[in-house]
Amino acid sequence: MIVLGIETSCDDTGIALVKDGILIYEVRSTQEEVHKKFGGVVPEVASREHFKTLLPLYDIIKEKFSEHIDAVAVTVGPGLPGSLSLGLCFAKTIALYEGVKIVGVNHLEAHLLACLLENRYPKFPCLGVIVSGGHTEMILWSGWGVYKRIGWTVDDAIGEVIDKIGREMGISYPAGSEIERLSQGAKGEIKISKLKMEGYMMSFSGIKTAALRVFRKIASKEDYSAFALGLQNSLFGSLSSKIERVIEDHQIKEIVLGGGVAANKILRDKVGEVCSEHSLSLMVPSPKFCADNAAMVAICGYDMILRGISDDLSLDYRSDWKIKI
Ligand code: KG4
Ligand code: ZN
Repeated sequence: MIVLGIETSCDDTGIALVKDGILIYEVRSTQEEVHKKFGGVVPEVASREHFKTLLPLYDIIKEKFSEHIDAVAVTVGPGLPGSLSLGLCFAKTIALYEGVKIVGVNHLEAHLLACLLENRYPKFPCLGVIVSGGHTEMILWSGWGVYKRIGWTVDDAIGEVIDKIGREMGISYPAGSEIERLSQGAKGEIKISKLKMEGYMMSFSGIKTAALRVFRKIASKEDYSAFALGLQNSLFGSLSSKIERVIEDHQIKEIVLGGGVAANKILRDKVGEVCSEHSLSLMVPSPKFCADNAAMVAICGYDMILRGISDDLSLDYRSDWKIKI
């Protein structure tokens, strides 16, 4: 079975082909350069960029690969309404003229299933942790398609905090990889307080405010590295403590990390330490599959079709779609 995946939920346009569960071709185009000057994603601009990019990307795929496809998988939420709507409209057009089924994919579920692209399969029950620019969520994942959302941020997502602080530091959007790079040269650490919140719910706006206060007192650029390290230790340490709490309360065999921030080595190491202390394994996709991409959408759609799920052309986008409960 060949599934064409389409991703346009935010500022990355992607199209990919998965054949019998194996990624065979992928194209993506990032809008980072376009949004840089605004310091973050501007929804109208994002839609216009997807509009310009989708057809040329599709043409590249068609040139390389002429076999008949069996289905189109498309991200229908959560994400920016205009961007989702464009991707969906494009997907419906392909489904209609190719005469194939369409399947609407949840972007967060796709981040969790990205590990399948590298032939790694979760050991259930596991804890899925999505850390991206728009979401920080913990999901009890007890079988294929069986999810329970148990903890999430009530305000800023971790990636959002990193991007906002990065902007204050003069780092262009998205700031995550540059903040990680800066911290690699740190001689010391400027400590920033961690999250103090009971239960599984999270709030990162307090860390953001505390970090901004600390940052504004920094006199020399030489201290940026120590600050970048302190910021990541605070955010990732807080998330790791929440993960540890879930591990202590639930029978879990593995942790699966996903989302753009999961590319960060400090985060991977911190969660890795928690896993080894509790004799659990950790599964994280390669950095290229942590960031938004269409390959994870195609593999998620493939998995859904195997589970008997598909949609019809009345499918609509859902910009605030929560992962299934
Ligand atoms: O999943 P993603 O590509 O898009 C969303 O669905 O939001 O995540 C983007 C986020 C941005 O906030 C970006 O700064 C962050 O991921 N990010 C990182 C790193 N690479 C990307 N954060 C920390 N360290 C990184 N290496
Ligand atoms: Zn994402």
